[in-house]
Amino acid sequence: MKIALASDHGGFALKEAIKAHLNEKGYEILDLGTHSEESVDYPQYGKACGEAVASGEAQRGIVCCGTGIGISIAANKVKGVRAAVITNEFMAEMTKRHNDANIIALGGRVLETAYAIKLVDIWLETEFEGGRHQRRVDMLDEM
Ligand code: RB5
Repeated sequence: MKIALASDHGGFALKEAIKAHLNEKGYEILDLGTHSEESVDYPQYGKACGEAVASGEAQRGIVCCGTGIGISIAANKVKGVRAAVITNEFMAEMTKRHNDANIIALGGRVLETAYAIKLVDIWLETEFEGGRHQRRVDMLDEM
C-alpha cells in the first residue's frame, strides 16, 4: 500500500516521524512535502495529498498541520476524499469502520508524537464495516 504524506511547517516534525515509522513497517511512501520548518501555506499541501489519494496514485493519505484542521479542510475540497481529523484512539478506529476515511489529519501541536503514531497504526489496521455505512459513504462521495 502506498501512503501519501503532506504537511505544513506546523506538522513537519510529525510528518517526518510518521514517515520513519511507516518506512520501518514496509509501507511505500509518497512524500508531498513540506520539507522543512520554513513557513508555508497548508491549503497547497492538503490539496496535493487529496489529489494523490483521489487519483489512486496513493491508496491512503496522512496530512499534518498545527492542529490538523486547516489541512483537513483543504484535503476535503478534493472530490473523493474523506479526510478526518482524529485526536484519540476511538476516533482513529471509528473513522475507518464507519466513514472509510481515506485520509487522516493530525495536529503536530496537539498530539504527542508516539500517540499520533499509535493513532496512525489503529487507522491503518482497522477494516471498514460496509453495510449501512457504505450507503452513507456513497452519499458523501456524490456531494
Ligand atoms: C500554521 O501556523 C497553522 O495555522 C497551521 O499549521 C494549522 O494549524 C492550520 O489549521
